[in-house]
Amino acid sequence: MANILIGVSGGIACYKIPTLCRLFKKEGHDVKVILTENASKFVTPLTFESVTGNRAYTGEFDPGLDPEIIEHIDLAGWADKFVIAPATANLTAKAACGIADNLLTSTLLVYTKPVIFVPAMNTNMFNHPATQENLKTLEKRGHIIIEPDSGELACGTSGKGRMKEPEELFRLIEGERPLAGLRVLVTAGATVEPIDPVRYISNYSSGKMGLAVASKARELGAEVKVIAGSISADCSEFDTVYVKSAEDMLNAVREHVGSCDILIKAAAVADYAPVEAAVQKIKKNDGELVIRLKKNPDILKEIAPLKKHSQVFCGFAAESENLNKNAIRKLNEKKLDMIVANDISRKDIGFGSDDNEAEIFFADGSSEHFSKGSKKLLAEMILIRAAGLLK
Ligand code: PMT
Repeated sequence: MANILIGVSGGIACYKIPTLCRLFKKEGHDVKVILTENASKFVTPLTFESVTGNRAYTGEFDPGLDPEIIEHIDLAGWADKFVIAPATANLTAKAACGIADNLLTSTLLVYTKPVIFVPAMNTNMFNHPATQENLKTLEKRGHIIIEPDSGELACGTSGKGRMKEPEELFRLIEGERPLAGLRVLVTAGATVEPIDPVRYISNYSSGKMGLAVASKARELGAEVKVIAGSISADCSEFDTVYVKSAEDMLNAVREHVGSCDILIKAAAVADYAPVEAAVQKIKKNDGELVIRLKKNPDILKEIAPLKKHSQVFCGFAAESENLNKNAIRKLNEKKLDMIVANDISRKDIGFGSDDNEAEIFFADGSSEHFSKGSKKLLAEMILIRAAGLLK
């Protein structure tokens, strides 16, 4: 059984944490809680002491502390798992900057293993570039972010920022892997259509989005196969089939789609290819060069008839205008369960970036917005939703 340290910062979601403590206790874990001063205004230390059976820590210099023990060093050494829930915007900012101005933030600086941050706050605070940057910084350092849900918030508004319910948090923190036993097939990167032995038609896809999906799917317990076109990211850690053209990708998807539960088609497939690739290098001349293009097969449309009831197919829509309208059209035309629409005209998201922002449309007509954040966080949302659609 594990030693679980829960850092509670001051937000209304604090009221969910005693239940979380009880769930850990019920499982046989030892639980200790550090509260910030503001958190202890929402829920008293006594409540936490009653549910954990341990002292609830509030200040570094509280009377009654053992002078032999330096609390932030001792607690950091004690904890097998360190969870910050709720993680307010303020606490997240301090953690990202390495500020150590109370027992909780000092303990964070001493702790050497990945910390699980559970942000919960008002939507605007969550979406604020500063908060998003801070979360990204924490994630880059190897910490784990459990995304808030969307819904009604205590501040009276509605949107992303609501902390997950204690039961779901418990399952996620316990490392329950929601995609265990599932097989995920991901396409990533750009297809390459040869003009001659030296030149080709392609696009700017780096493969980062597809590989974020692959990596998150594996983290969530799935068996992952990647079909990779041209990519700049390293995918050697995955079971990968390398392809070049759209035709190659179609053949690879056809071969492997039967043995997956979830297909995520993040690859950017060239819609057109030269009618014929020249065998020899095309020589330069003084006039114009005309290359005739033929339409490539639409992979998703081609494989739609192969789709089993038990499978979920998710496409992407790369749009520079009319994002929602075009995405919904593609969702219907390609007979998908869901489609992730991203604006590839923006420099800060989409092609090549570590971040993305997207609208996810579902076949039942509903949709969900993913505010700008890391591709890995978007990948998690896509996978959890896709798994939720499995029959
Ligand atoms: O790789 P990154 O640099 O990280 O960039 C990520 C991304 C912008 C490439 C990714 O987020 C994305 O949008 N991928 C889909 C790109 C694309 O081809 O979009 P589309 O709107 O043209 O196609 C719609 C869907 O049909 C896609 O799932 C695509 O894989 C699929 N398609 C497209 C053409 C074709 N001939 N066959 C297909 O199956």
